[in-house]
Amino acid sequence: MSVDLERRERIAILTLNRPDALNALSVEMLDDLDGHLNSLENDPEIRALVLTGAGERAFTAGADINHMREATPLEARQYARRGHAVTNRLENFPKPVIAAVNGYALGGGCELALACDIRLASEKAQFGLPEVNIGILPGWGGTQRMARATSPGFAKELIFTGRRVTADEARATGLANHVYPHDELMDRAVALAEEIATKPPWAIAAAKEVVNLALEGDLQGHLARELDAFALAFTTEDQREGMAAFFEKRTPEFRGR
Ligand code: COA
Repeated sequence: MSVDLERRERIAILTLNRPDALNALSVEMLDDLDGHLNSLENDPEIRALVLTGAGERAFTAGADINHMREATPLEARQYARRGHAVTNRLENFPKPVIAAVNGYALGGGCELALACDIRLASEKAQFGLPEVNIGILPGWGGTQRMARATSPGFAKELIFTGRRVTADEARATGLANHVYPHDELMDRAVALAEEIATKPPWAIAAAKEVVNLALEGDLQGHLARELDAFALAFTTEDQREGMAAFFEKRTPEFRGR
């Protein structure tokens, strides 16, 4: 299993566990996460979830670039559909999901955190949507959810530059609710989940559903546009160059074709 599940009375802790690759989200991990969500959704004992990353460095460094490197546009679209499925699932999950962001939350990792209800950050956390650095654009909901969580201008700055944001800046922009010392993060996340778990489950589920409506617009329509733009990026030479440069540990040279 590449995603660990721990049940602690009324809460569940899900840990993305592939620290050698900074918990980059392989298809297997997405499947594991989905499988755990299936069992937790139907478990009446469990009332709140905490999602975090294994190891000292990362929540998750995002979609697996190895998996995308040689992808055709159709394969890229399929992978982004998997990302959309899991982020939509978290956003619509009938129990609150708290992201305990213990390090890098980049690309798909940031998009996963954005799909959670509440983000708590360790002082070591860094958020970012660095897809342009590898020749593509965010494809797991980041174009929509970053703008909604912060502001369209801030989202565009992050997406256009690929810049990483510290935990303090994340809190100041609404991306994180709170920042805690690294060693306190999990205790704080668990305490918050336990507090929420004492509340009436139906009212919490209904409140989550209705608060989500505050941001509705045509989210699904916009996500469909994002999916197509993401897949189209895989028709460009810049995507191949960006991902090759990542593994060769050099600066990519983008030519606009
Ligand atoms: N997909 C696949 N592998 C990844 C990965 C990803 N998204 N992010 C990191 N890794 C792997 C690296 O290839 C490396 O593997 P290796 O030890 O076999 O060489 C390992 O994780 C450690 O990463 P490395 O880049 O060596 O660490 P670093 O400390 O120099 O840099 C980051 C850390 C997070 C800045 C850097 O790994 C990074 O930029 N990752 C990609 C983030 C990204 O673009 N995500 C969006 C994808 S859509």
